[in-house]
Amino acid sequence: MTTRNRRIVLASRPDGAVTPDNFRFETVDVPEPAEGQVLVRVHYLSLDPYMRGRMNDGRSYANPQALDETMVGGTVGEVIASRDPGFAVGDKVVGNLGWQEYGVADAKILQKVDDSRVPLSAFLGPAGMPGVTAWYGYRKIIAPKAGETVVVSAASGAVGSVVGQLAKADGMRAVGIAGGPEKCDYVVRELGFDACVDYKAAQTPKELARLIKEATPDGVDGYFENVGGDILNTVLGRLNTFARVAVCGLISDYNNKPGEAAKSAIQNPVMFLVARFRMEGFIVSDHLDIWPEAVRELTGLLAEGRLKYRESIAEGLDATPEAFIGLLAGRNFGKQLVRLV
Ligand SMILES: NC(=O)c1ccc[n+]([C@@H]2O[C@H](COP(=O)([O-])OP(=O)(O)OC[C@H]3O[C@@H](n4cnc5c(N)ncnc54)[C@H](OP(=O)(O)O)[C@@H]3O)[C@@H](O)[C@H]2O)c1
Repeated sequence: MTTRNRRIVLASRPDGAVTPDNFRFETVDVPEPAEGQVLVRVHYLSLDPYMRGRMNDGRSYANPQALDETMVGGTVGEVIASRDPGFAVGDKVVGNLGWQEYGVADAKILQKVDDSRVPLSAFLGPAGMPGVTAWYGYRKIIAPKAGETVVVSAASGAVGSVVGQLAKADGMRAVGIAGGPEKCDYVVRELGFDACVDYKAAQTPKELARLIKEATPDGVDGYFENVGGDILNTVLGRLNTFARVAVCGLISDYNNKPGEAAKSAIQNPVMFLVARFRMEGFIVSDHLDIWPEAVRELTGLLAEGRLKYRESIAEGLDATPEAFIGLLAGRNFGKQLVRLV
């Protein structure tokens, strides 16, 4: 086994859009596990939009990523040395080892997974954090009643694709919003949504409103928000009385420069009174109590082939910064991963 570990650290904080020079590659010794720790060889890194927020130094729901430290991130991999009785060499584990090839973690914060029914990488996607995020916002905030219409933005992505498929499995009308005809085609034909709006086909907000209205003839009862901006404001205008809006993400504002006006500012707040809707933000890691139930349901659906997903896989650690920059620009198609092994 090599004794050297390649990793990517945060070299500087972005001023607006992320650039490759915000990151630095380093080669260091592979760390030794202490008592109660495990050494893991990382097979896949998860790239997620939340990492953009961590790169800033402002107030957020989590501490900022420290400069000169390994970039945060979810990982799946294989135990190659263990000093904890609960883990053996060869065990497959989900953890948060960050952007590096090898990592040591306390055994109590690693989760052993069974990759005999679903592939290992799925534990970073539909059977992992993004899937549980979809499950929580859909089941606990939108909590739809029979026959309702549920709309989700970034519908072909890691979270959005699960939201729409859960809604369809429950018999709802599921409507996606996604960027481009290829993504929309996939959302309807492969994932089984009833309709998908290609927001990039709209040249003006008025045109976007027309497309969303056509796709939601009975209005919108539940909206799962992943992107914000004009899409948020347009869907708010279609809400039915007592609709629920689960605010999961506002990716169109993540690359804003410090002090820049938010694109997701609500333009027509009187809709709160007209529709008496409820809008609730959530962070999936606040709800660890529901993870076992959600993962059980999602892995069951995956194993039965009833939950489909797609992955964008970048090859090798060197490809990580560009893949992350692409994710924030919508160049990924499905869950964005980096394969290291
Ligand atoms: N609250 C939580 O606990 C939690 C947990 C996980 C994820 N999230 C949030 O969930 C959302 C989706 O995450 P994901 O992991 O599933 O990512 P994803 O959907 O797989 O990828 C991001 C997608 O966002 C869309 N996008 C990017 N820039 C955009 C822009 N300026 N305007 C509109 N759409 C844009 C792109 O899709 P199109 O090409 O279709 O536009 C892109 O493919 C993100 O906002 C993320 O922060 C929240």
